[in-house]
Amino acid sequence: MTTSVTVLGLGAMGRALAAAFVRAGHPTTVWNRSVGQDAELVAAGAKSARTVTEAVAADDLVVACLFDHRSVHEVLDPAADLLVGRALVNLTSTEPRGSRELAQWAASHGIDFLDGAVMATPPMIGQPGSSLLYSGSREIFDNHRETLELLGTAEYFGEDAGHAALVDFALLSGMYVMFAGFYHGGAMVRSIGISAEEFGKRAAGFLTAMTGSLPIAGAKIDSGDYSIPFQPLTFTKAALDTIVSASRNAGVDLDVIGPIKNLVDRQVADGYGAQSSERIFESLSPQAR
Ligand SMILES: NC(=O)c1ccc[n+]([C@@H]2O[C@H](COP(=O)([O-])OP(=O)(O)OC[C@H]3O[C@@H](n4cnc5c(N)ncnc54)[C@H](OP(=O)(O)O)[C@@H]3O)[C@@H](O)[C@H]2O)c1
Repeated sequence: MTTSVTVLGLGAMGRALAAAFVRAGHPTTVWNRSVGQDAELVAAGAKSARTVTEAVAADDLVVACLFDHRSVHEVLDPAADLLVGRALVNLTSTEPRGSRELAQWAASHGIDFLDGAVMATPPMIGQPGSSLLYSGSREIFDNHRETLELLGTAEYFGEDAGHAALVDFALLSGMYVMFAGFYHGGAMVRSIGISAEEFGKRAAGFLTAMTGSLPIAGAKIDSGDYSIPFQPLTFTKAALDTIVSASRNAGVDLDVIGPIKNLVDRQVADGYGAQSSERIFESLSPQAR
């Protein structure tokens, strides 16, 4: 039987999620705090609910895609009784402890709860490249996997509801730091008249080639053996010293590159200069060992 789905929250992401369910022929009920966001979805076949309780009561699978942790409570708390016996999936981005708190709240009301993280933009939903991470109720994940796969590839990270969110924010950390590096480089080359767009095209190719080695770097970190360097810390230190100097000369602030140099300097000062550069991981997470 085709699962009927309720989507709470019709921002850019909620609308994309609901549209994917409607496209696949799932009976879909939608609700949004402010009116007028459901017109296209209703035209495509979704049912519009006037209240949260009406929306929750309509279907077995309830997907919340709101703004933040607080808005999830504001919307779901009054509907707790109605959620019992249904599968609740939260696709609102929340901190891992926020996801765990929601799981505890759900458990205290006898509600089955799966937390999720959307690793895609709204236009990517339902398209190749869209990926969603889940943790919490294994039962919801297994029972509704086929429906969840309509949004993007679905991966399960265990019963702890905070795990999907942690992996989400770890991936986003990598993305934000990489983009900040691009902005830094863009500011450097602007000083010689290269546009940010032109630099972007060049950086995309270079960074794509570089990121291919991340699993190898990860294996080295996991082994804890940095004794055979691909690139020793002294080499990386010399490169960063030069980049910092070139940046200063180009009039670029060191807010982005400075902390990277500090991490490397710390490892060299601690006597690890001959070891592999992946060792800066140990500066970030000293308690891990
Ligand atoms: N957009 C992306 O690229 C993207 C990617 C990954 C994950 N996400 C996550 O998906 C979630 C939704 O993102 P979005 O892009 O759809 O955001 P958005 O366009 O800003 O929409 C936010 C939604 O939350 C609702 N909302 C906010 N506060 C509320 C409250 N107190 N009570 C009830 N409803 C409330 C808004 O309702 P109104 O229309 O009434 O304001 C709207 O439906 C966020 O957690 C975001 O981090 C988004």
